Amino acid sequence: MERRVVVEIDLKALVRNYRKIAAHVKPAKVLCVLKANAYGLGVGAYAKALAKAGCTMFGVAEPYEALELQKALKSCVSGLKSSAKDVRRKTKDAKFEIQILSSILPDEIPAMVRAGVILPVIDVATAKLISAAAVKAKVVAKVHFKLDTGMGRLGILAKDALAVMREVKKFPNLDCEGVFSHFPMAYDPKDPFTKRQIRLFKSIVAAAEKEGFKFKKVHISASDGINNFPETAKRPFTVVRTGINLHGSFDPYGKKALKVEPVLSLKTRVAQVRELPAGTTLGYGRTWCLAAPTKVATISAGYADGLPLALTNRGFVFIGGRRCKIIGRISMDYTTVDVSNVPNVKPGDEVVCFGMCGRDSITPDDWAVLKGTHAYDIICSLGNRVQRVVK
Ligand SMILES: Cc1ncc(COP(=O)(O)O)c(C=O)c1O
Repeated sequence: MERRVVVEIDLKALVRNYRKIAAHVKPAKVLCVLKANAYGLGVGAYAKALAKAGCTMFGVAEPYEALELQKALKSCVSGLKSSAKDVRRKTKDAKFEIQILSSILPDEIPAMVRAGVILPVIDVATAKLISAAAVKAKVVAKVHFKLDTGMGRLGILAKDALAVMREVKKFPNLDCEGVFSHFPMAYDPKDPFTKRQIRLFKSIVAAAEKEGFKFKKVHISASDGINNFPETAKRPFTVVRTGINLHGSFDPYGKKALKVEPVLSLKTRVAQVRELPAGTTLGYGRTWCLAAPTKVATISAGYADGLPLALTNRGFVFIGGRRCKIIGRISMDYTTVDVSNVPNVKPGDEVVCFGMCGRDSITPDDWAVLKGTHAYDIICSLGNRVQRVVK
């Protein structure tokens, strides 16, 4: 039996989005960010679809995610029997690389080195521990210097970058193959702060290369940067990271240079339909009072499924091919909707909370605007009981 609330994931649209991004940034390569269980949607299905589409670089936030992703990619290679011959060959031969993008804690290092996960160097002490673990495991650990050029969150401060790099270069069993940074507000294409970050980052990379560093992977852009700062897909940059655009969503304020498609549809079903008289108030807080007799459907999804409270009396869903207004406060498991304009609506009917309806659509980005947030928050807030269904 299917759960009452499902999020359908259109893997074909996901792959088309990946290919669109890859074509847009060529010859730079795309690292797909699948942290937080692919933004809560299920890392296994995402990893397999993207690996078959030719992606070889993946990013996560922490070790547990790295190991889950590694498992998914291994099972993808062993489960290729039903794929076309050329996909089978390419995917089998691919060397998948998994990278932790944020920080690594001392006790996490040995297992990550043994697993061959690419690690961030956020300071000299971390690099020393990675080197020691690599020596012990008799391997060479790949690392990327993580520079804080303005994010103010993690990494080596720009002023210390060269000194740290020089020090780390002395440590054995490290392959310092990469250097990267992150933007805090690349959603604004005119933002002078981002432009300064790019200049600062490039100057550090150039100075390091003068001292003999040969970085294979140089990256600064995530989705916002890819859309708004095309220069970050050109030399010295060789890699871009993408997360939210894979799902077909954007930062609400950014220019949307890429035409990515919606990947996600959130669906539930009608629980009950009632004709209610004028004067009836709906739900907690009695925030909506019917001005006239109204046909009201109660649908089987609420804030526990990820419907933001901000949709109360403002949002819409699709039922029977029509756009229907949410009336009354969203509760944990149910939401009330005006279905006066929908003929023959009955319990069990499908409700599209976000997704397509003919040419009309409701997107996580639309919800984000109502909630005063971004699509990341909407997508990552889909509840545990929402079944992830791959199409
Ligand atoms: C370091 C880093 N790179 C890339 C991403 C992916 O960002 P986006 O989903 O905007 O593409 C994130 C997300 O927060 C991140 O923290």
